[in-house]
Amino acid sequence: MSDSDDLFKLFAPSYYFDKPRQYADSDWFIVAEQSILVDEEAFWAVVKKWTLEPELVIPPLRKCDIIDRVELPNERITRNLIPKRKSKDPILKELVEYHASNETRPARVTFAPDVVSENQLPFYYPKVRAYSLVFDSRITDDQHDTEAVIRLEIKPFSITQTGISNDKMIYALSEVFHKLYKWCIHTSLGYEKRANHDVLVPKEMYHETYARIKAKYADKIISQWTEKTDPTKFVFEDIAIASYLICLWQIERQRLGQSRLQSFVDLGCGNGLLTHLLVSEGHPGKGVDIAKRKIWDQLCDGKDDCLIVQSLHPPTASYPNVDWLIANHADELVPWTPIMAARTESRFIVIPCCYFQLDGSRHKGLSGLEGGKYREYTDYVKNIAIQCGYSIDEDQLRIPSTRNIAVVGQTRHPVEGLITETVGHFVARVSDRELEEQRRKKAAEKRK
Ligand SMILES: C[S@@+](CC[C@H](N)C(=O)[O-])C[C@H]1O[C@@H](n2cnc3c(N)ncnc32)[C@H](O)[C@@H]1O
Repeated sequence: MSDSDDLFKLFAPSYYFDKPRQYADSDWFIVAEQSILVDEEAFWAVVKKWTLEPELVIPPLRKCDIIDRVELPNERITRNLIPKRKSKDPILKELVEYHASNETRPARVTFAPDVVSENQLPFYYPKVRAYSLVFDSRITDDQHDTEAVIRLEIKPFSITQTGISNDKMIYALSEVFHKLYKWCIHTSLGYEKRANHDVLVPKEMYHETYARIKAKYADKIISQWTEKTDPTKFVFEDIAIASYLICLWQIERQRLGQSRLQSFVDLGCGNGLLTHLLVSEGHPGKGVDIAKRKIWDQLCDGKDDCLIVQSLHPPTASYPNVDWLIANHADELVPWTPIMAARTESRFIVIPCCYFQLDGSRHKGLSGLEGGKYREYTDYVKNIAIQCGYSIDEDQLRIPSTRNIAVVGQTRHPVEGLITETVGHFVARVSDRELEEQRRKKAAEKRK
């Protein structure tokens, strides 16, 4: 079974058609809700496609004509929905509005038909004043991960009659919601950009390994999960990355005529699942992170040196005799990974994420390159690796994240420049332990 099938199977929404739930004192009412393992970027990619091609989601439509577009402050698009049966159904004017997320509100796209009463609505349109697709993500209580849900919400014509009882309408809305879920996952797995898949690892080899690793570990890990986060997000993602690495390293051993399994260090390893999978498959290695996670005790299984609490200082960190350095969404360690790898002549894989630059500031994608900010940041990381002397390959991983590019450095000609120039530039984050000590000190001072 493919990785997308695993994710599709997680679709088990809560529906509230008969008694919609009011959203946070607003005039929006939730009719469907589902947790989802993708980033907000995937949601917006789907919404933008559907804005231009509503016939992909509403079968009675032939197309839409965009009649107005205002960019600021929220993007507002006025469109005419053109039905297939032009003689029977009216053309419906509709306002689509994008509301980006911020600290206080989720990402939301609203669809409002230009009518004064529900009698003016064509048969295929929900009998509501407006409806909305929402992507709501929040940082988990332990501050280390994010969880997301998608919702379908409605603004009813009458506040005293919010429920939807028409079976056909319930079916149509459930279908739209299911499609939103599937399309977000497809987009996230990079199905739109197949061209960059399977560059270093053949697809069949990857899928076979993924199936084997999943069958061997997934159920056990999910049943033993002690974190507050949703285990499925990490299990499928880390199984996918581990499978990719196992294949990549197998190909490398064949190329080098080597039987010894490659060693590794997983920098900023988080919950340690990727380290656990690779070690369980025989690769000698360890994961390092500022913050210990509860699940480590189970994953280490008596091997105390497998997952280590340590605040890394990349300008001096050194891993002699380690074959591979891994930085999977490892925040500020990401741009430093090629430099650390070059210092010890290791190979590396980086999956860039949160736009950290070498000095700890955030990269501001300004040039408007196709592919957006993530593309620009990935190029920034690649450029550091090239300055360190690496030849770089890029592959797109089949993981449920829009930040799914793997930058891989396997061969290198020696250059010193960046390795010595950047010493002293790194600003380490304050660890949980240090934060706790600061909090205790403050509390003690107050008590004096
Ligand atoms: C976004 S999390 C990713 C965790 C994991 N690699 C994954 O993909 O699930 C980034 C991790 O990097 C760790 N980290 C950041 N700076 C670090 C440093 N200087 N030393 C050790 N760990 C660090 C953080 O504690 C955090 O767990």
